[in-house]
Order: sequence, then C-alpha cells, then structure tokens
Amino acid sequence: MPRALLLENIDPVAADLLGSAGYEVESLRGALDEADLVAALDGVEVLGIRSKTQVTGEVLRRRPGLAAVGAFCIGTNQIDLAAAATAGVAVFNAPYSNTRSVVEMAIAEIICLARRLVDRDRALHAGTWDKSAAGSHEVRGRTLGIVGYGNIGSQLSVLAEALGMRVLFYDLEDKLALGNAQACGSLEELLERAETVTLHVDGRAGNAGLFGAEQFARMRRRSLFLNLSRGFVVDHEALRDHILSGHIAGAAVDVFPDEPREQGDAFGSVLRGLPNVILTPHVGGSTQEAQHDIGRFVAGKLVDYTRTGTTTLSVNLPTVALHGSSAARFALLHRNVPGVLARVDALVGEHGLNVDGQVLATRGELGYAVTDVSAALPPDLLAALEALPESVRLTTFGHRAG
Ligand SMILES: NC(=O)c1ccc[n+]([C@@H]2O[C@H](COP(=O)([O-])OP(=O)(O)OC[C@H]3O[C@@H](n4cnc5c(N)ncnc54)[C@H](O)[C@@H]3O)[C@@H](O)[C@H]2O)c1
Repeated sequence: MPRALLLENIDPVAADLLGSAGYEVESLRGALDEADLVAALDGVEVLGIRSKTQVTGEVLRRRPGLAAVGAFCIGTNQIDLAAAATAGVAVFNAPYSNTRSVVEMAIAEIICLARRLVDRDRALHAGTWDKSAAGSHEVRGRTLGIVGYGNIGSQLSVLAEALGMRVLFYDLEDKLALGNAQACGSLEELLERAETVTLHVDGRAGNAGLFGAEQFARMRRRSLFLNLSRGFVVDHEALRDHILSGHIAGAAVDVFPDEPREQGDAFGSVLRGLPNVILTPHVGGSTQEAQHDIGRFVAGKLVDYTRTGTTTLSVNLPTVALHGSSAARFALLHRNVPGVLARVDALVGEHGLNVDGQVLATRGELGYAVTDVSAALPPDLLAALEALPESVRLTTFGHRAG
C-alpha cells in the first residue's frame, strides 16, 4: 500500500480522501524539523504540510521516493520549489479555497467601519454608554471601490451589490464586470469616486508601496479604507497620518509589512490605538470552512496526480489535465531539450506498442510527457525510458507486464 504522511493538523477530510484512494495515511499534529522529516518520510510517496514544515533540497535529496508534496495553505515559500522540480516532485497548494472567507470578512468590516462599531464596542467595554447616530451610516447606496478584481475582488463585488452598494473596480487587466459593477480607467479615478476603498491586489513585487500618502490624499474626505491583500502594499505611516487628520474616517487592516512569526508574539504597528481602525492578525482567510475546503482541494490534486498524472495547478511542474484511461500510461518528466518525445515514441514502437494518446507540456527546464499505450508496459521498456539521459522521473499508471 502506498503511504502518505500529513503534518500540522491538516483537516481530516484530506486523510479520508487519500485513504479512499488506497493510501495508508499517517497524520501528525505538529511540524517536523529537517532530520525528523527525513526519518518520517521513509517509504512515503505523498507528503502534506502547512506553513511550518520546511521541505528543503536536503530533504528531497535524501528521500527520492517522495513523489508529491501538498501545501495545505496558499503559500509555498516553505518548499524549495526549484529543488522539487529538479527531483521531479510535484507540489500543489490551495490558491482559491479561502477566498470566500476573505470576502465575508471584508463585508463585515465595511459595515463595522461605516457604523463605527469598533469604537462603540470599546466604549461599552470600558463602561461608557455612548448612544448616538453621529458618523454612523448605512452602506446601502454607498460606493465601494475595489482595487484588484481577481478571485476575491470579484466575489466581493457580487456580495456588496447584494447589500445595495454601488461597485467600482480597477484592475491592471481587462476584467469582466460582474452585475452592475463599473470598471475605472485608472486607480486615480476610483479613488476620486469611491467612498470606501478596499485592496485585493496580488503580491507581485511592483505592488510594494502601491498605496501611500498620495493615494490616501486622493481619496474622498471621510472615506473608509481596507487592506486584506498584502502588508507591503500600504504605507502605514501615511495611513496613520490620514486617520489622525480625519481625512480617512476609518480603516480595517488584516495584513502587515512585518508580521510576527509565532502565535503569541508581540505585535507592533503605528496603527495601534487609532479610532475606528480594525486590526486583525492576518485572519481574512482563516475559517474552519476554508480549512476544510483546503483539505479537500489539495488532497484531490494529490490523488489526481498519483492516479492519472494530472498536474493541473501544480506550482512547479508543467501542467497537463488528464483523465483516467483503460490503457497503460506512463509519465516521463524530463529535461526540456529537443528530441526527447521522438526518442520516447521510438522506444515504445521498438517494444511493439502503439501510442493511443500523448500529451506534452513544458515549463522552463522541464518537460512532462504523458503517454497512453495499447497494452501493458514491459519492464525493459520502462528501464530504457528511465535510462534516457534526459529522464528526471518516470511514473507508471495502470498495468505493467511481467
Ligand atoms: N487576508 C488574508 O488572509 C488573505 C487570504 C487570501 C488571499 N489574500 C490576498 O488577497 C489578494 C487577492 O487574492 P486573489 O485570490 O483575489 O488574487 P488574484 O490573483 O485572483 O487577484 C488579484 C488581482 O489583482 C490585480 N492586480 C494586481 N496588481 C494590481 C494593481 N497594482 N492594480 C490593480 N489591480 C492589480 C490582478 O490583475 C488580479 O486581477 C492576494 O494578495 C492574496 O495574497 C489574503
């Protein structure tokens, strides 16, 4: 029975899915350091981790039997992706599973800021009864400006319209406007028209410092600001100045340029203690529903890969989408140089087999060729494929002869 190791308290749905696919699954609550990970990976084909386990080049070198790593989270910085690709280890993550959670939090915060609920809550906890409508607004009829109309921004657009908000958005790419949302031709146009501005841009390097004093100054007086995207996108000193001057009436910030590494670590920010400012510790995507969906999504990708060779959404290998096949199948991950496919097909022909179907995808220095053949795979064909000088990893699916 192939073995799977799941670390860091991954949602049990992942173990269920891998178990149903024929894996013997071991689940551990914590992360493992390098030495313990190498020891634990003895005989393991599939590894599941979250953000704390480092899958280094050394781990990959010492465990060549490892076929795939699932990062049950968004980020993959904890994995040496280049070393994984060189070793022919497929890496998958869950880029979309928590997007709805972020959207729901943004909606909650837009309403909280418009009603100044945080200040009311703080006052009442401190024993002060402050019942007043001053500065408190409905969001219905207000204009929301979404910067970055991707997976999160576009979902937010739909929910905000359902609340009766008018939605404007600005994206670097030409995006289809959902519902009655209107695209703006520039960030400046959005800032001048929106009453609440919310950032949902991605983490590309060019977005560092995207939002600073100039952008806050361009926003309408007494407007609201949210950032649930990336910490380095916003100049927090500038945000603080515009909150204190009263130009910005409130803000919600979930992501910070320097976030504490460990649970319980001290948190410092120039935004602490400001009126009508909601600070949350990067929890936009942290819900039990998202964790469950991440478990289901990543385990599904691992099962698809090990059963059929499908690499769709792999973060480091060439991607091909395949379906199960009654024919025998082999997948050859190889160095992306001219002539490999011709040599593969020649070897298949020399062994008296017919190619039923074949897909090739390339990514940088790697090529990934999946071949379906008419009959069981003879061991000497597999040995010849593995012996090709360009071969990185050969995987077989279906029946082997002899
Ligand atoms: N707070 C959290 O817990 C949490 C959880 C999940 C995702 N996120 C972050 O939310 C952000 C959005 O996620 P997503 O899944 O919607 O990403 P996405 O890639 O689907 O969408 C990002 C969009 O932003 C656009 N964009 C990039 N730079 C831009 C710019 N300078 N101006 C205008 N548009 C720009 C892109 O074209 C794209 O359409 C990411 O930064 C992600 O890391 C945060």
